[in-house]
Amino acid sequence: MVKTSDKFIKRAIMSQIKNRLKPGRVAVIYGPRRVGKTTLLHNFLEEYDGKYKLYNGEDLETQKIFTVQSAAKYQSLLRGLDLLVIDEAQKIENIGLNLKLIVDTVEGLNIIAADRLHLIWRNMSANRSREENGIIRFFRCRNWN
Ligand SMILES: Nc1ncnc2c1ncn2[C@@H]1O[C@H](COP(=O)(O)OP(=O)(O)O)[C@@H](O)[C@H]1O
Ligand SMILES: [Mg+2]
Repeated sequence: MVKTSDKFIKRAIMSQIKNRLKPGRVAVIYGPRRVGKTTLLHNFLEEYDGKYKLYNGEDLETQKIFTVQSAAKYQSLLRGLDLLVIDEAQKIENIGLNLKLIVDTVEGLNIIAADRLHLIWRNMSANRSREENGIIRFFRCRNWN
């Protein structure tokens, strides 16, 4: 059987993400438009065995969910999931702060976010110590490596 991902060029960044994914961290895939971030996320999820949810930051409902900054809300929405994936994360205001809260309150959750403008970094950089502890891992996405 031919899988969807077979028609795509295999990317080194994919195995990097697989190997470095870890609860308590946010794997940020960054890079400009059209370098393949969304495709990478979908190909990744196609092979992913765990329980996941995929959101798109361009969706207004998604924007509401991820600006709520409520630990209780994030617990009830995300507890029990293995992986949270957010595409177009740069569209969500204060996404860095909200992801930090999610990391701090939802145990065992892996997170991948695709961020075209590097805004997660900007939001989180106020908190030096967490940053140095490695709360975020960056994966640069560009043509075609
Ligand atoms: N690994 C790949 N191999 C071949 N084509 C790809 C690959 N990744 C993306 N593309 C193609 O490149 C275009 C842009 O990809 P997309 O994932 O939408 O980029 P982004 O989300 O970074 O804007 C799409 O037409 C997509 O089919
Ligand atoms: Mg995209």
